[in-house]
Amino acid sequence: MCGIVGYTGNKAAVPVLVNGLKRLEYRGYDSAGLAIDTPTGILVEKAKGKVSELTKLLAEHQEDSPIHKSQAGIAHTRWATHGPPTTENAHPHASSRIALVHNGIIENYKSLKGKLEAQGYNFLSQTDTEVLALLVDSHYDGDLFQALSSALKEVEGTFGVACMAKDEPGVLIVARRGSPIVLGVGENETIVASDASAIIKHTRQAIYLDDNDIAKIKGGDIDIRSLDAGVVSREASEIDWSPDAAEKGGYEHYMLKEIFEQPDAIKNTIRGRMDAERGTSMLGGLGLTPREIVDIQRLVIVGCGTSLNAGMVGEFATEDFAGLAAEVEQAAEFRYRNPIINSKDLVLAISQSGETADTLAAVREATEKGALVAGLVNVVGSTIARETGRGVYLHAGPEISVASTKAFTCQVATLLMVALKFARSRRMSVEQGRRFVQEIESLPGLVKQVLAKDKQIAEVAARYVQYERMFFIGRGYLYPVAMEGALKLKEISYIHAEAYHAAELKHGPIALLEDTMPVVALALEGPGKEKTIGNIKECSARNARVLGIITEGDEEAKSEVDDYIEIPACRLHAAVIPATVALQLFSYHVARLRGCPIDQPRNLAKSVTVE
Ligand code: M6R
Repeated sequence: MCGIVGYTGNKAAVPVLVNGLKRLEYRGYDSAGLAIDTPTGILVEKAKGKVSELTKLLAEHQEDSPIHKSQAGIAHTRWATHGPPTTENAHPHASSRIALVHNGIIENYKSLKGKLEAQGYNFLSQTDTEVLALLVDSHYDGDLFQALSSALKEVEGTFGVACMAKDEPGVLIVARRGSPIVLGVGENETIVASDASAIIKHTRQAIYLDDNDIAKIKGGDIDIRSLDAGVVSREASEIDWSPDAAEKGGYEHYMLKEIFEQPDAIKNTIRGRMDAERGTSMLGGLGLTPREIVDIQRLVIVGCGTSLNAGMVGEFATEDFAGLAAEVEQAAEFRYRNPIINSKDLVLAISQSGETADTLAAVREATEKGALVAGLVNVVGSTIARETGRGVYLHAGPEISVASTKAFTCQVATLLMVALKFARSRRMSVEQGRRFVQEIESLPGLVKQVLAKDKQIAEVAARYVQYERMFFIGRGYLYPVAMEGALKLKEISYIHAEAYHAAELKHGPIALLEDTMPVVALALEGPGKEKTIGNIKECSARNARVLGIITEGDEEAKSEVDDYIEIPACRLHAAVIPATVALQLFSYHVARLRGCPIDQPRNLAKSVTVE
């Protein structure tokens, strides 16, 4: 959830580190710090708040001072787990000899701390990371690689870690277990990061460490070993997106940019995967033979947050079109409730980042239970993509905004392709398949039509800015849309938004309705619409203002609501995507008018790598 950057090479380290931190700030942003190798020792600077607070401190050092000349250092941007966001708790944590930054959680930190205190170590922070730093120091006798290896053997938990020692100038030691570390391979230089977006400005050649890898790096020399065995070989791969993709490109926020990227992102998701003639999809990455596809008896979809909401659409479409039993599970519960899983199940793990701890744990549990396990992931080379070894990449490009937008619509597009694949191998005719292919191919155009209404949606949003609570309701395919709409609104505007199945309203939530509680009702043409219109009447009767997401030209629906956003007519499994885009824009404009920090909402991090 935090971000790590490291540099060793022949350039000034500070600008590389600060630039990398800014790129990673979306991962966590309650404090930031760096440690720099200087001729007189390791210099540490840390600041509470955003990276800009750290840069103010760095500006206090003269331009020709050792900190600015140094060619090696490590840096970190934090999302608090142990201890509040203070300067003391910010990383790096250091002794007089070593400095260290860490992502993950050291689960046995209490017992290790007791042991270190007995050896005379004093602690300045409340973090588990300081325990790791001092544990490394306790093993240090001039060889940092050995010291970190020995320390990590005592550690239970997860880590992505980078450290340096005063007596080993220019050397960085990095290791990972459960928290990603990627090495950007440059000419006589290496950039270490927890996420490729911090290295893309310098090089596209990336080496992704595997769990239990530990590496010694100096300039361009990289020596990777395994904590369990000896030397290991890790090939560099090319990052397939450009530095521009990770910039705002003239938009006020990454979120808005990513909302507007959706037509192209969906095109990239479906490119080369549609077979119009045979009316089916081609998903070679799933690595399933036609026989295996027919033999699968159940699709189990796991994910968290937005990915979970997308998964619900996949569940509905798979049952609806393929007649294949499907269920969606919260990844966080999957391994704890001991699910019944067998070799005829395909478990599909959905994750934008490919690093979400709960989803990864579900992948491991399903693998243990002998299921076929596939990933539906955006970040190439991420842990879930590698551990599943089969799946479908979204190709949505980097998603920087904490609020997920294009990942959701590309996940849904992919799940529709998965449903089509199963449907054609079961009960769907070629003609029906061709229609389905056309519907998937029409998605970028449908999204464009909604984006063209941005100004109108902003005007509607202005009428909802003052409310502090809101309901979202929907049925069938539109229920996950209500869930995703409420999630978007609450995370970026801090309005208390809750989604309910429209039929559930009468079973309790309706008690909360009054004129201070507006309702966003998904009432598109299709099965269930008339019943939702009935629910809208019930809301209006309780003086709740109603915003309808309705089908273009539906005069009946217009007459029932106070405000509306129109969506082009299409069947509901396809309408999920344009309807969600409308709610993304609605949430964005409400949050913007409320003056919220849209790309970095409080308390959140882009990638949730702790349980
Ligand atoms: O990277 P993942 O898709 O696994 O992330 C899952 C959730 O943490 C994520 O979708 C989260 O809910 C978003 N902030 C929602 O906008």
